[in-house]
This record gives sequence, C-alpha cells and structure tokens, in this order.
Amino acid sequence: MKTSELKKKIAGEKAVDSIENGMTIGLGSGSTVYWMLRKLKEKVDSGLNIKGIPTSKRTEGWAKEFGIPLTDFSETTKIDLAIDGANEIDTNLNLLKGGGGSLVREKIVNHLANRLIIIADDGKLCNQLGKHHLPVEVVPFGWKATARSLEQLGCSTTMRLQDEQVFISDNGNYIIDCHFGLIENPNKLHEQLKLLVGVIETGLFCNMTDLAIIGHEEKVELLR
Ligand code: A5P
Repeated sequence: MKTSELKKKIAGEKAVDSIENGMTIGLGSGSTVYWMLRKLKEKVDSGLNIKGIPTSKRTEGWAKEFGIPLTDFSETTKIDLAIDGANEIDTNLNLLKGGGGSLVREKIVNHLANRLIIIADDGKLCNQLGKHHLPVEVVPFGWKATARSLEQLGCSTTMRLQDEQVFISDNGNYIIDCHFGLIENPNKLHEQLKLLVGVIETGLFCNMTDLAIIGHEEKVELLR
C-alpha cells in the first residue's frame, strides 16, 4: 500500500473508536472515509448498533456494500457524531473541503452533528488555507454571472469538469473552483461568498472541527 494511503487508513480506523452503540453517525466523503467505513463494517458485523447518514452518493454506495445501516433526515435530524475528510486543515482546525464535490451535503451533516471528527493524512496540514482551489457550489442558472461575482472578490475561477463534461454535484448543481491563493481570513471570505446571489455553499468549514485525527507513517496525532 502507498504511504499516503496507509496514513489515511490509520487515521480512518482510529476514528471508529469514538463511535458508540446507538449513535447516528454522519458519514463524510473521500478516500480516508473509505477506510473508516471498512473498519466500521467490522464493528457492525460484531453487533454495534448504529445508523449512518451519508454525505455523498459514493459514500452511500460504500456503506451499502459494507452492510452499514443508513438513515436520512425523514427519520432524524439528530446526528451524534460526524466523521469526514478534508483537503486542507489549518492550525485553528479550519478546513478547505470539496475536492470530491460533496461540500454541500458535508456542510449540512457536519453542521448538524454534535461532534465533528476530521480524518486525514499529514499532507493535509497547513499553516494557512488556500494552496488548493476553493470549491464553491452554485446554481446552474446564470452561473457565468455568479462566476463574475466571485472573481470580483479577487480570485480567478475554473468551472469544475469531469471527463471533459461539466461536473454535476449530487444536488444537481455546478462547482466553480476559485483560485484565491493563501486565504488570510477564512471565516470572513466564507461569509462574503455566501452573500453572493447564486452561491449555495463554499468549501470553507470554519470553527466546526472538534478533533482532527492525523495519520503519520507510524502513528496517529490528535489535534483539538
Ligand atoms: C469531498 O468533497 C471532500 O471534502 C473530501 O472530504 C476531501 O476531498 C478529502 O478527501 P480524501 O480523504 O480523499 O483526501
């Protein structure tokens, strides 16, 4: 297994220790979450009684494959714990997310959860967010005008594509990747972006993380 994958695996597996019987768990998205789900399957097979709310169709597919019971917001709006990945984690545990395009559902689930645990390999740690582009989900109607509004906040923009076609999120929307460079004040930028007409959600997750579990080559690090 590649070193980066091993780091994701140890972080993902460690997070399962925090899952208790009877909990409703927000199931995040991405390759690190995959390892968490694989470990969770073992616990479920041994009798752990939990229900998961997936944040993407991909996660839903994995959970079904592993036999992890699922629920949705028609049954409950109470989420005890969410476990999710991130593209970047700064020293205040603010996050840049959405590399996989699942930011809206992740934001809804993580926001509702009583506790949020982020799992990641050590390559995700940074002093300041913004090395990667910032994903912003927008309504398809008028998206070019929305992109212009985004650019007026000081970024260049790229429409997210997949296989040379426009990427469509699980919610039927577009994602515009914004290149701001290093972000001085993530919370302020998030608020500015949210005020723009046509913007649904941003990949900045500020003041939400309770614990980050970071996978290194031979150990896990806990950041609070
Ligand atoms: C999905 O939209 C993202 O927010 C993921 O949580 C993030 O990209 C982390 O993914 P990996 O665990 O695959 O790095």
